[in-house]
Amino acid sequence: MKLLVTGGCGFIGSNFVRLALKTRPAWTIVNLDALTYAGNPENLKGVDRDPRYRFAKGSICDEAFVDGLVKEGFQAIVNFAAESHVDRSLYGPSEFVRTNIQGTVNLLEAAKRHAVPRFLQISTDEVYGSLPPEGFFHETTPLHPNNPYSATKAAADQMVLAYVHTFGIEALITRSSNNYGPYQYPEKLIPLHVSNAFEGKPLPVYGDGMQIRDWLHVEDNCRGVLAALEKGKKGEVYNLGGGNERPNLSVAQAILKHTGRDESLLQYVKDRPGHDRRYAIDCTKANRELGWTPEIVFEKGLAGTIDWYRENREWVSRIKSGEYRSYYEKNYGAAAGR
Ligand code: NAD
Ligand code: DAU
Repeated sequence: MKLLVTGGCGFIGSNFVRLALKTRPAWTIVNLDALTYAGNPENLKGVDRDPRYRFAKGSICDEAFVDGLVKEGFQAIVNFAAESHVDRSLYGPSEFVRTNIQGTVNLLEAAKRHAVPRFLQISTDEVYGSLPPEGFFHETTPLHPNNPYSATKAAADQMVLAYVHTFGIEALITRSSNNYGPYQYPEKLIPLHVSNAFEGKPLPVYGDGMQIRDWLHVEDNCRGVLAALEKGKKGEVYNLGGGNERPNLSVAQAILKHTGRDESLLQYVKDRPGHDRRYAIDCTKANRELGWTPEIVFEKGLAGTIDWYRENREWVSRIKSGEYRSYYEKNYGAAAGR
């Protein structure tokens, strides 16, 4: 299989590229990534020397670039590329509209034009909106996105399904809950709190800290993405959740405990505007149709993740200093286009 992955230098994309190359020896992967602030080539250190892997620096918003690359011929496209941070979408939504909606449409157009036989859109449980204390998101739950980020992801999902219906392209969607694990950019809750705890800095808790997220280890999600790619049906949506619902405050407390810090580091701050209260995913469909189930219990996954950040503190500090870009210059330089 010759696979085009977009956003492979980000958190989930880089974990996916590693897993796919490791477990699918016959596959080759081209990774299209714009290297935004969130794209870090260091996330694929080592992999970048694998002859089955190639990096193509470019944006999914660049229609001509996307078309030229897809024209090469691929058996599948997996679209991870996105602006992914809710807080940033509150203050700069336009980039989210460009990348998450227009970028996805550019990929769909190229897939249609060049008859790519498989297109997997990586989406999110946030498209369903917020839940009361009871109940779960099912694939049939009506979309009700509440913030600019999730609104753009919902629009992209609708475009994917419209291309299936109208043009018959072989596309499908996974919607996962909150991922955590190695290589997550330290602006998201878990890596931010872990790195702050190491440095003895306050852990910001939005509002009352009782918002609930369902935590899914990134390796479980990537196995689910592979299963959907290989076994999922055209036009279908698959929810992927961890079965680990936790209030944010208890996640922060667990991080303090694991890092040997006390609760004086908890810092209650102003709530995120429009903050979704609870996400919870029903993934019986993925279990039934893809044979997928999450395997990593949150407490074990969190401990392993904290260990990873402890062992890779230089990775965090290079991101914070912006230094990781020099890795790209050294390894790829100007010759990194396709
Ligand atoms: P991330 O922010 O860590 O990485 C995004 C990657 O996309 C980066 O490498 C970035 O350089 C690249 N990118 C951004 N704009 C681009 C463009 N215009 N052209 C090409 N590349 C571009 O994101 P992530 O957390 O790894 O999320 C990956 C996908 O999974 C996203 O689509 C996100 O919506 C979805 N998702 C994430 C989570 C989560 O908890 N992180 C949960 C559910 C779904
Ligand atoms: O549910 C899937 C979504 O999960 C993905 O689609 C998004 O790409 C991903 O960023 C994530 O969105 P969240 O907004 O849930 O993730 P974040 O890590 O930003 O925040 C998790 C929760 O923690 C949320 O309720 C806000 C809260 N929070 C976050 C930060 C960064 C805090 O209380 N303090 C913080 O400092």
